[in-house]
Amino acid sequence: MKLSICLFILLLAAGEVILDMEISVLTHFVVNLVKTTHAVLFICSLKDFDELTLALMERNQFVSVVHFNQSYSLSSLLTRENHARTSILVNARCSGTTELLFEASENRLFNKTYQWFFWGVDIEVETLFPYKLKYVGPNAQITYVNKTDNGYAYWDIHSKGRHLKSRLEINLIATLTNDTLNIACDIFHLQSIDFRGQFNGITLRGASVIDKEDIISNEQIESILSRPTKDAGVAAFIKYHYELLGLLRDRFNFTVNFRNSRGWAGRLGNSTFRLGLLGIIMRNEADIAASGAFNRINRFAEFDIIHQSWKFETAFLYRYTADLDTHGKSGNFLSPFSDRVWSFSLLTLAAFSIIWILFEIIDSKFLHRGNNSQKQEGSSQKIEDELNAKKGKPCIKTTCIERILQTFGACCQQGLDPNPQDRSVRFLVMTLFLFSLVMYNYYTSSVVGGLLSSSDQGPATVDEITDSPLKISFEDIGYYKVLFRESQNRSITRLIEKKLSSLRSTNELPIFSHIEEAVPYLKNGGFAFHCEVVDAYPVIAEYFDANEICDLREVSGLMEVEIMNWILHKNSQYTEIFRTAMCNAQEKGFVERILRRRQIKKPACQSLYTVYPVSLAGVLPAFVTLICGILFSLLLLGMEKLYAYLGLEKLWRF
Ligand SMILES: *[C@@H]1O[C@H](CO)[C@@H](O)[C@H](O)[C@H]1NC(C)=O
Ligand SMILES: *[C@@H]1O[C@H](CO)[C@@H](O)[C@H](O)[C@H]1NC(C)=O
Ligand SMILES: *[C@@H]1O[C@H](CO)[C@@H](O)[C@H](O)[C@H]1NC(C)=O
Ligand SMILES: *[C@@H]1O[C@H](CO)[C@@H](O)[C@H](O)[C@H]1NC(C)=O
Ligand SMILES: *[C@@H]1O[C@H](CO)[C@@H](O)[C@H](O)[C@H]1NC(C)=O
Ligand SMILES: *[C@@H]1O[C@H](CO)[C@@H](O)[C@H](O)[C@H]1NC(C)=O
Ligand SMILES: *[C@@H]1O[C@H](CO)[C@@H](O)[C@H](O)[C@H]1NC(C)=O
Repeated sequence: MKLSICLFILLLAAGEVILDMEISVLTHFVVNLVKTTHAVLFICSLKDFDELTLALMERNQFVSVVHFNQSYSLSSLLTRENHARTSILVNARCSGTTELLFEASENRLFNKTYQWFFWGVDIEVETLFPYKLKYVGPNAQITYVNKTDNGYAYWDIHSKGRHLKSRLEINLIATLTNDTLNIACDIFHLQSIDFRGQFNGITLRGASVIDKEDIISNEQIESILSRPTKDAGVAAFIKYHYELLGLLRDRFNFTVNFRNSRGWAGRLGNSTFRLGLLGIIMRNEADIAASGAFNRINRFAEFDIIHQSWKFETAFLYRYTADLDTHGKSGNFLSPFSDRVWSFSLLTLAAFSIIWILFEIIDSKFLHRGNNSQKQEGSSQKIEDELNAKKGKPCIKTTCIERILQTFGACCQQGLDPNPQDRSVRFLVMTLFLFSLVMYNYYTSSVVGGLLSSSDQGPATVDEITDSPLKISFEDIGYYKVLFRESQNRSITRLIEKKLSSLRSTNELPIFSHIEEAVPYLKNGGFAFHCEVVDAYPVIAEYFDANEICDLREVSGLMEVEIMNWILHKNSQYTEIFRTAMCNAQEKGFVERILRRRQIKKPACQSLYTVYPVSLAGVLPAFVTLICGILFSLLLLGMEKLYAYLGLEKLWRF
């Protein structure tokens, strides 16, 4: 510190011109005009250093001082940790100002965060801000002071884009005469979007993406983007953002000269050089883009977001037909009960039959009660009983087969004839009927319910689409090609392997196609098309009938569903003004109106009864059961014949 003071004294002694600033001009600026609380001083004289610092401190300012002769770094002086209301006071007559201005412009520091003040007595504005200083835009907060006949004048300086050769716009803020400040216009009004929102037909550099050959001129691009209908190679969100751009154009009165690129993102080889639209914006070759971009974590550092409203949603669309039933649920006869219930029921019935047989044996062997209790009944019954009693042992075999058959019959809701005579057996049989009634009710209601609720039918994930017999095609647009080339995801590589690698015959749709060409295939079924859903809905609503609309299924998941960002170059001079205007448009409902027109809803299913035929796979278990029953009965017949033939009855009787 002491050394530098010595240097000043030496300098003054050398008799250089007086470069001091008038203290009251600065204090009025800081206290009465911009009302900041942190002042950064760029000076080159001892008097400034001594008196100005004190004067500012007395007015409650946090002061930091930089002498032009010392080496300083702007990025460490003006950081994001700065007080939100910082004024930077520069004595523009010092040598080194040009370098400072240039550095501030390159680092994009003339923005809403800082209030710049230039002491420009005896310096022309145009020499202070040459065209070389590209970053003096509509968001600049720059005040320039020069001397008038009887005092000083504060001027507000901005432009609509020096890189577009737009002139400096200079407006009087206030004058200072005899230490009294006469405010001509409120400085915050002069710096506001209201005041700076007239671009006077300046031509901004625009960028857009149309995936088509030979799109060069601005007229071509504008005519394609302004068409309300779908164009090949133009994503729905491009046209949407073009329309939003129209809002900004109307608001600020500028025109745009578009330049086209074929894709959005990509990198040159393995370098960090960005290609496509993102590359153009990142290198600041465009001021505004008629397109959105996806959210990616590495993009936040390189782009400013001015608006988010478009929900990007792509999906496989296909018509559900009965052969696509992947879950095999509807109509499968075994599905109402789980396998465990089936096997448990079978076990229960087997146990039941055994118990029944045991009861009968006990009855006939030890109690012999059956005959007495049945005495009063019909004579035929009596004869039968007597016959049974006479036979004794040999009827055990018939009893076994008989009881198993009767149990089976009871399960199938058949009656039971003849009625068992014993009370315990009767009770057992009643329980069996109750059991079969309850189970039967469960079963039928489950089948009916399953057939009626036809909600989740057909493949529902990308993997199920891959496994299904559906043929698939994609909209002919750049992002799919990038996805297929770059994705390492297992389900995508599997999809490419299974569905896209084989050759297609001439009567099939190629892999990349357009929705209009795909609709007949969609209508026929067995075909899925992947595209932005809002593009497909109007065409589908036009060509599908009510039942077909109910069959329409949608499977997303190949690309994320996300809200797109409308991006500008990082720290662009238009970021703040455009972002504010878009907020305003959203509040007033303009964005909502455009969205409603552009994001067309899915056509609603209006057909009340859609009956999907049960597929063969669904009814197969019933046929299998039938065939098994026939085979089993044949087997029994064979065994019986063999039994009779070999005369084994004698063996049985010992
Ligand atoms: C500025 O620094 C240079 C060397 O860096 C020195 O020669 C010159 O005298 C200094 N001037 C002032 C005013 O301190
Ligand atoms: C102003 O610029 C600085 C440096 O580029 C940046 O950190 C800051 O966020 C900008 N302020 C606004 C309001 O964009
Ligand atoms: C002060 O600056 C303004 C704006 O550039 C200019 O019109 C005016 O002539 C200048 N005054 C003097 C005395 O140079
Ligand atoms: C400025 O003040 C002086 C005396 O302090 C006075 O003579 C002069 O008339 C004043 N000028 C104006 C423009 O008020
Ligand atoms: C837009 O700017 C042009 C060129 O300065 C001007 O003629 C026109 O009147 C402006 N339009 C509006 C609506 O302000
Ligand atoms: C880029 O890839 C080439 C080979 O393809 C390799 O030789 C080179 O080192 C890579 N560069 C970087 C920066 O990874
Ligand atoms: C792969 O893609 C599928 C669907 O596109 C998604 O569900 C899954 O999470 C992805 N897996 C990885 C590891 O990214």
